[in-house]
Amino acid sequence: MCGIVGIVGRKNCIKEIISGLYALEYRGYDSSGLALIKNNKFEFSKNIGKISNLEKGVKKNKLSGNIVIAHTRWATHGRPSINNSHPFIKQNCALVHNGIIENYEDLIKYHSINKKNLKSDTDSEVIAEIYNKLLNHFNNPIEAIKSLNKKILGSFSFAFLVLGTKSIYVSRRGSPLVLGLGDDFNSVSSDALGLPDNTKEIIYLEENDIAQINESTISVFDHNSKSIKRERHKFIPKKGFKIKGNYKHFMEKEIFHQPISIEDTILNFADKKRKTVYLPKTNIKFNDFSNIILIACGTAYHSCMVAKYWLEAMTNLNVSIDIASEYRYRKSKISKRSLGVVVSQSGETMDTLKCLKKFKQKKIPTISIVNVLNSSISRLSDFILPTLAGPEIGVASTKAFTSQLSVLALFVLNIQQENGAINKLYFNSIFKIHDSINKILKKNDDYKKIAQTLADTKSIFYIGRGVMYPIALEGALKLKEITYKHCEGYAAGELKHGPLALIEKNIPVIVLAPSDENFLKLLSNIQEVKARGGRIIMITDKDGAKKAKKFCDHIIIIPKTNFFTSPIIYSLPIQLIAYYLAIFIGTDVDQPRNLAKSVTVE
Ligand code: M6R
Repeated sequence: MCGIVGIVGRKNCIKEIISGLYALEYRGYDSSGLALIKNNKFEFSKNIGKISNLEKGVKKNKLSGNIVIAHTRWATHGRPSINNSHPFIKQNCALVHNGIIENYEDLIKYHSINKKNLKSDTDSEVIAEIYNKLLNHFNNPIEAIKSLNKKILGSFSFAFLVLGTKSIYVSRRGSPLVLGLGDDFNSVSSDALGLPDNTKEIIYLEENDIAQINESTISVFDHNSKSIKRERHKFIPKKGFKIKGNYKHFMEKEIFHQPISIEDTILNFADKKRKTVYLPKTNIKFNDFSNIILIACGTAYHSCMVAKYWLEAMTNLNVSIDIASEYRYRKSKISKRSLGVVVSQSGETMDTLKCLKKFKQKKIPTISIVNVLNSSISRLSDFILPTLAGPEIGVASTKAFTSQLSVLALFVLNIQQENGAINKLYFNSIFKIHDSINKILKKNDDYKKIAQTLADTKSIFYIGRGVMYPIALEGALKLKEITYKHCEGYAAGELKHGPLALIEKNIPVIVLAPSDENFLKLLSNIQEVKARGGRIIMITDKDGAKKAKKFCDHIIIIPKTNFFTSPIIYSLPIQLIAYYLAIFIGTDVDQPRNLAKSVTVE
């Protein structure tokens, strides 16, 4: 989603600004722009499409400056266009904005804004208009922001340039902002990845904070414009995250990184020799709870679905799961003996964050399973279980998903451990995931061949039972996300309740079929498909292949798994199929249309 970068320094910082925008590219965007102050005048450039288009425009117009704000826009109000892209420049101010202003129409009326002054369809331009008026009224940029923020309903992070000053003014509510301190510059970004590499320290702004960034100083104020101190953290640049190496796409790199990312995550929490799980120390006693509520969106929600199967089978807890955008508004009862768990790669997903706040209001303990440490979700939760997947750049989540599953697996084993009875078979098997995944990745040609057979089909189905049901959903999500093909995931037993009507000659149905207790039932389901002309592509182990061979059009054999490891290991084939199919079709794998990496709007 939208991204903000701003730098105030001694030297021309256009190069660092553009590099910051490239670093935020992974979040998804459709246009970009920047503005700077030169000789007390604004200069700017905007373009639609890739950041390279903006870069060309900036070079052509020979823009250079040392007080610059920039933006990548992911359209919410108004289509992607130059007029709708940021910064918005008014008489005395320039603005870039992330988030959504819910009451912008009321604000237009209340502040008698002449609609002729609004050149875009965005909510953001209304803010630039009002801030410009407030600047004239207060003649003090901080007081003007304080007043502005009081008028706004919705979420925002703002960065303003103000004529007559040598500062960037920022503020945030519900949308993150991080400040970067350097030797001869200071900076701001919506994501630490957007800060210059030679940043020394960072400050995470808190809700309703306002800040003034100058070349050599940073001042932070609370919502009442009272000066406050915020903790400084050492900045560790994420070296290598921008490099694809020998891979064609970040998604490919991230898929192939999984033997390492899964192992890193598992070894962080488990000691193989001592057969012990070591979660970071916490006051949370799992025995104190009778319920666990797991909340997330998209792929992260699928990891919660898997966790529900594990927790129900392996602990005595009642488990409820929900999609964050629904749970937020549900009037569900939350008992005092509940533990709230939210799962998020980015740690910034707005709906998930709001559910975490709902848990906090109900005063139940909270755990977040997040990949981006110091994200809004990780900072708000009582306790963090990090997934050590490393930065995930591809919009389609791959390694973050398998790391979420790995953490959740250890979380379940930890509960068993507290209850005095850890499942040794499952515990030992998690250390073998690495080898199984390497074997799958070595045979990646199998998935290329399957993907090629899918290139001309209009619809594709994924089916599975038990813990393979969430993986079927994940397979379908991955495939539609990056190939734009219609693809549905179903619990295999559900086919006859409707979806079977869609099966006709040669419609591919990909069956996730570890040879487990559900296997025979699954065989019946595939015969229902076969009888209607569907094309069966089965992913199974050797035992499964023996039994199912005669019913299948294609079989891919992968290593034997169990109830605990199969969701992690079967995630690899579904990712590879989606990836290779996208390659055949020629879609933009890392930045699929209409999607964003970090969904910070509701
Ligand atoms: O950052 P989060 O894990 O909270 O993101 C949740 C979803 O937006 C995300 O998983 C999305 O579904 C992915 N693009 C799927 O590949």
